[in-house]
Amino acid sequence: MEPVRVGICGLGTVGSGTFNVLTRNADEIARRAGRPIVIEQVGARRDNAECDLTDIHVTRDIFEVARNPDIDVLVELIGGYDVARELVLEAIRHGKHVVTANKALIAVHGNELFRAAAEQGVIVAFEAAVAGGIPVIKSLREGLGANRIQWLAGIINGTGNYILTHMRDEGRAFDDVLAEAQSLGYAESDPTFDVEGIDAAHKLTILASIAFGVPLQFERAYTEGISRITAEDVEQADQLGYIIKHLGISRRTDEGVELRVHPTLIPKERLLANVHGVKNAIEVMGDAVGPTLYYGAGAGAEPTASAVVADLLDVARDIATHHDYRTPYLAFSGIDHDDQHP
Ligand code: HSE
Repeated sequence: MEPVRVGICGLGTVGSGTFNVLTRNADEIARRAGRPIVIEQVGARRDNAECDLTDIHVTRDIFEVARNPDIDVLVELIGGYDVARELVLEAIRHGKHVVTANKALIAVHGNELFRAAAEQGVIVAFEAAVAGGIPVIKSLREGLGANRIQWLAGIINGTGNYILTHMRDEGRAFDDVLAEAQSLGYAESDPTFDVEGIDAAHKLTILASIAFGVPLQFERAYTEGISRITAEDVEQADQLGYIIKHLGISRRTDEGVELRVHPTLIPKERLLANVHGVKNAIEVMGDAVGPTLYYGAGAGAEPTASAVVADLLDVARDIATHHDYRTPYLAFSGIDHDDQHP
């Protein structure tokens, strides 16, 4: 069986995790995909000591990967908005499928990218963009496909949850725990994205778009972070029977889909109050199924790689069957007005 040839752009935390999972579990992945998934090229500014790049064609020019005729799927793991957008558009123009973990890119430029991909008949897949290794996008799109989704609410930034957890459990200062989350590779390169709620708003935008079938509307999200929460706030909440969690919440209203990200007091006995450390959890209410909960590691090299590789498996199966069962992703493509409500 012909292999699926992958070009990985970016060899940071998630890039190295993806490289290593694809290499280590190659046999299992090939069996599940029905064909080998091979790393044909890596585009990165520098090598990463975590990855054995022997026999891998490495380039410092990531755009070379987007234009390489020997590559079927470009995996975008460089992060950020502008260069990533150019790279993905270039790959699409060259007829490549794209897998990305870049929530900022999808939340802000996704409408444009999905249109470009639909015109070229290729896939842009982004499971890893939301909640790290938790297959929540797949669950919304496929597992809950029968439901009218009423609302969703979740802890969708691992760094923020790590900070709040350690402030509460160990009485530590905000900055001290943030530095630790950065050293563990959880935080964004600009950690204000984590602590000011921007990263969570990116992810909420994506979830809401899929759950409610509306265009990506990042600019409409109310966004408030956790940077002003003090050890005293955490302590007082505790005494009153609550735990402070940073939530992303989206629901249908008569005026459209509401998107908000902010610290929330949650009664201690609720499931979401008991999600600790870098873990994420998302509660989704469907009209048929009722409440459901998705839980797991929300950040980190291999948990995020798990979602990237899951998308590669989907793409490999799509290529094999010539059947784009991801069309529901694009339920909102072709909608030109951002005031479309469910
Ligand atoms: N900085 C992000 C987080 C990484 O902490 O959740 C995963 O998206």
